[in-house]
Amino acid sequence: MISAPPGDGEDFFSSLEKVFSISENDIRVMIEDFHVEMGKGLFGDKSSLKMIPSFIDKPKGNEKGEFVALDLGGTNFRVLTVILDGKGNVTVPAASEFAIPRKHMRGTGVSLFDFIAGCVDTFLTENHIDRNKTHDLAFTFSFPVEQTSIAAGKLIAWTKGFTATGVQGRDVMVLLNEALKRIDIRCIHITALVNDTVGTLAAGSYSDPACDLGVIMGTGTNACYREALSNMEKLNVADRNGHMIVNIEWGNFDKVKPNAYDRSLDKTSVNPGAMYLEKMVSGMYLGEIARLVLMDLIGRELILVNKPHAAQYFQERGSFKTEDMSLIEGDKTGRLEGVTLFLERNGILNISLRDKTQFKRLCGIVSSRAARLGAAAISAVLTWMDPNLKDRHTVGIDGSLFEKHPGFSTKMTDVFKELYGQKSEKIALVHSKDGSGRGAAVIAAVAASSERNTKIN
Ligand code: BGC
Repeated sequence: MISAPPGDGEDFFSSLEKVFSISENDIRVMIEDFHVEMGKGLFGDKSSLKMIPSFIDKPKGNEKGEFVALDLGGTNFRVLTVILDGKGNVTVPAASEFAIPRKHMRGTGVSLFDFIAGCVDTFLTENHIDRNKTHDLAFTFSFPVEQTSIAAGKLIAWTKGFTATGVQGRDVMVLLNEALKRIDIRCIHITALVNDTVGTLAAGSYSDPACDLGVIMGTGTNACYREALSNMEKLNVADRNGHMIVNIEWGNFDKVKPNAYDRSLDKTSVNPGAMYLEKMVSGMYLGEIARLVLMDLIGRELILVNKPHAAQYFQERGSFKTEDMSLIEGDKTGRLEGVTLFLERNGILNISLRDKTQFKRLCGIVSSRAARLGAAAISAVLTWMDPNLKDRHTVGIDGSLFEKHPGFSTKMTDVFKELYGQKSEKIALVHSKDGSGRGAAVIAAVAASSERNTKIN
């Protein structure tokens, strides 16, 4: 797949490192391209960055109330109750998680939304929630949605392996409402439609007012930030004072050159030609890129030679996951016992230390590029807001890749040091836990109170 001089594995690895390298200069160019795309997206011109208005600003910290939050965005669907006490404290008295069967992810929209409504029904029953009272609900729907208000928006395109039919172009709040009605749930009032990045920013800024960027690095990747209304040309509002959170949808950024492995992954994905950055950075794809590299190495007889069982195992798409990569890269034992265990669990026995070392090395090459690209995207948004980094910025991040992948956050911080030297100390990456639950409820509270105020006025 890549042209490498014949010879030992070392030659190949050098070529591989080159193919996956993201130099400081590449990052600087990427930041410029990012700014151009952001500008076009805000203006309403064609851009790979959709720059979607969220119709909400950062919360103030005094939001109050009890909310039900729904979280759809990965392989599990969650239902939670969240209480905000008005003093900045958030508690989650009940939470349930439901694995989404593939037949609903990839079936019809009706079956997916019926599944969601069914989970809500189970949750209400199991937690003895009073169905005679109305409960405000925040729906975290972590896909690109063209929002037209805080509580309405049409799905632009599915991402992260979802393909349920009949949803694209439809208002997902209407679909949810219809599904709830079909099973006679009438005690829910849907208050807010929230992207997970927006919830993450809300949750992050609750604990730290300097938090002005919400980022997800998990199954998918994306970010939102606070934009001045005066810069949002495409938004038709009379009053241009104030700010609004903008969902960038950066996973679709298309100005980073894909290599042969990226192109091969893209071709076999359910959304070819879209979400280039997400496919290089996020947890849904990193394991698969590493597997493609591994298969290339096996094909060249540079690794796992005369191990037909291993070749057969890794032949299958999806057989190597990003969480396996995290485990392998996190193995600090001298003889790579963790890697041995992983291989043995999959029936691959008697692998040499050299092969295990090479395996770990290729994983590192793939994940380092992801961390550097992630940091580049963060840098782009920070310098869009504050070109000379005059202020301190807290970046609230959630997602398994950031949370669990060994060294990921350090590799990102290294990029800030490379780009900004001492000024990089002004950038703090903070794990903002559970934006899709806690943060979404905060947003729902802001929305509910502005709804009440509108009614009063
Ligand atoms: C979606 C975003 C979401 C991100 C992280 C992407 O695939 O398009 O809306 O924020 O995943 O969950």
